[in-house]
Amino acid sequence: MKNENPFITKGYRGPQYFCDREAETQKLLSAVRNGRDVTLMAPRRYGKTGLIHHLFHEIGSECETLYIDIFNIGDLTEFVKTFSAAVVGRFSTHAEKAGMGIADFFRGIRLTMTPQSDGMPKFSFDVLPSQAEATLQDTFEFIKSRKTIPIIAIDEFQQVRNFPENGVEALLRSHIQFCHNARFIFAGSKRHLMEEMFVLPRGPFYQSTQLMSLETIDCGKYSAFAGNFFKKAGRAFNAEVFKRLYDRFDGVTWYVQAVLNRAWDAAEGLSGDDAVEAAIDTLVEENALTYHDLLASQTASARAVLRAIAVEGCARDVSSRHFIEKHSLPAGSTVRYAVADLAEKDLLYRSPSGYRVYDRIFAQWLSQKA
Ligand SMILES: Nc1ncnc2c1ncn2[C@@H]1O[C@H](COP(=O)(O)OP(=O)(O)OP(=O)(O)O)[C@@H](O)[C@H]1O
Ligand SMILES: [Mg+2]
Repeated sequence: MKNENPFITKGYRGPQYFCDREAETQKLLSAVRNGRDVTLMAPRRYGKTGLIHHLFHEIGSECETLYIDIFNIGDLTEFVKTFSAAVVGRFSTHAEKAGMGIADFFRGIRLTMTPQSDGMPKFSFDVLPSQAEATLQDTFEFIKSRKTIPIIAIDEFQQVRNFPENGVEALLRSHIQFCHNARFIFAGSKRHLMEEMFVLPRGPFYQSTQLMSLETIDCGKYSAFAGNFFKKAGRAFNAEVFKRLYDRFDGVTWYVQAVLNRAWDAAEGLSGDDAVEAAIDTLVEENALTYHDLLASQTASARAVLRAIAVEGCARDVSSRHFIEKHSLPAGSTVRYAVADLAEKDLLYRSPSGYRVYDRIFAQWLSQKA
């Protein structure tokens, strides 16, 4: 489609719509080609998932790749059902897909194959909690039996820490360390949880992976990428306006993409700051109802803290007398509790320079209402 909006805000649509990340892609390629598993960490919306899909695109037919997101998975049994079905669906041979041999790997569980319109069957695993560990073991045996190099990316991996069963991480680690033919990429946005698993000496995955932190895309490269689309379509593009947009969101990919996506259709292109403001207003407006409900579901002190931090943009000393008096907040201990709770729920983000409202559009909405 001519003049199709090139600034995508979900998924991956190929390298032409993907900005830079060349060094990061090379690093990942080198890791998987040399037998290293990788832990990919970055705050939300920096582009972890996009990078994994870009890597898979660049790998091409060299390896067989599998991506799974476990954000919504609550326990080990659910994990095993999802993981096993995805692994078998992706890595089974034609003969296996036709029903030959698969049942030998997975004894004692009900496994169903449903034909899909593309001819590839969809597998589903009927796993009881008492069978979860055995099925996981069978799944790793299945992976080990592959003749190809499976690359398995597990996104939002920190979620395994919330599973109610004991020892899930140690269990996974014990299987993964003997799964020599496959490469694993563990991605996550909750740094402290990821670090407890992968960085701290007591963590079950300590020193078992190459650690990789994803930073924001370089401003100059992003500007060239965006400007190129605008100019090619005969639309205005002002690099200084772009730089102010980039700085306003500290270069966090999703926000930059979302604003560019909205500005793309504006008659004036990205010629002035007005185009950016209008795009941000649209984003705020579209999400206003959600934000309203989100705020209403917080305690009064949490609401006050959120508003105060949104107004500041970035707040270093949230329980200081100055901050509390300036924003008429409750006692320091109440503020500290609210901040910890909001950070746990991912509504606040603790950056090296202080606390921020994690969702920048929510921050904008909050500060407009304050
Ligand atoms: N290099 C890139 N160039 C252009 N767009 C990108 C790039 N990386 C990511 N995006 C886009 O930015 C948005 C956010 O990226 P992505 O979903 O990969 O972030 P994430 O770190 O996985 O976020 P979350 O932690 O919320 O899952 C997506 O819409 C994606 O399409
Ligand atoms: Mg993601």
